[in-house]
Amino acid sequence: MPAPVTAPEILARKGGDKIRMITAYDAPTARIADRAGADVILVGDSVANVVLGRGDTLAMTVDEMVYHTRAVTSIEPHALVVGDMPWLSYHTSPEDTVRNAGRLVRDGGAGAIKLEGGRKRLPMIEALRDAEIPVMGHLGLTPQSVHAMGGYRVQGRQAADAYELISEARALGDAGVFAIVLEGVPDLVAEMITAEVAAPTIGIGAGPACDGQVLVFHDLLGLGNGSVPKFVRQYADLAGTAIAAVEAFFADVQSGDFPGDAETYHMPAESAAILRELKEGTATYPLVGPESDHLLADEAMES
Ligand code: KIV
Repeated sequence: MPAPVTAPEILARKGGDKIRMITAYDAPTARIADRAGADVILVGDSVANVVLGRGDTLAMTVDEMVYHTRAVTSIEPHALVVGDMPWLSYHTSPEDTVRNAGRLVRDGGAGAIKLEGGRKRLPMIEALRDAEIPVMGHLGLTPQSVHAMGGYRVQGRQAADAYELISEARALGDAGVFAIVLEGVPDLVAEMITAEVAAPTIGIGAGPACDGQVLVFHDLLGLGNGSVPKFVRQYADLAGTAIAAVEAFFADVQSGDFPGDAETYHMPAESAAILRELKEGTATYPLVGPESDHLLADEAMES
């Protein structure tokens, strides 16, 4: 098994092979992502939407993110695991930021963290780098800013806003992030940022020019509630497949077809015969003598 992917290796992929990133939140989803060849698994706070049934990501806590990160790293993936910093875990001070990020690394096993925002985050990014924690940036439609943005809206559609985004990306790049997620921005803006910044860009709703792409696991596989954003390509309908499978199980239960012989445990023939005798009153319990010794030996072999 080759060594896990590292943040410096992702940084070195700038302009090279496209970076393959996907979210995962637990051992089964991480195993699928890793076997499919992910370079980066993001334990995103989108877990709030697609797993925990919440309307936004704002209520996620550091404890919850550690819990999901630990589940992902439990499978020891080859991919770099990036833990997402939840809202307010990196807004109050560099000290709090390092403490909370340290929990994702130390308790969750993440190899890097991701946080949302531009210049305002520079003191936090510097503190994280001083603590040797690699940082992935996230610009554009940053879901933790839903109230400040006035909803989930594409960012940088106007020239002035786009220009500002480019300068925010430059600031993150200069601060030494190893990659930047660009979410919900026009393709031209992503293209300009990708050309300008030394860190690789990883797009989600940011067009094809980025150095890599990321999608949310449940969106890509059709495991959501049926509505996905415009930028999602749904590669499977696993919810449909799962519903059909569970319906088939229920139909087999109704018809008596499940469980069949292969799905059923049997007693050794001798034990069954004695049990019947006990039930009919032709033998007494406890059994005594060589017959019972033989029976117990048979049972031990079965178990
Ligand atoms: O939380 C998340 O899944 C994310 C991705 C959309 C990049 O931040």
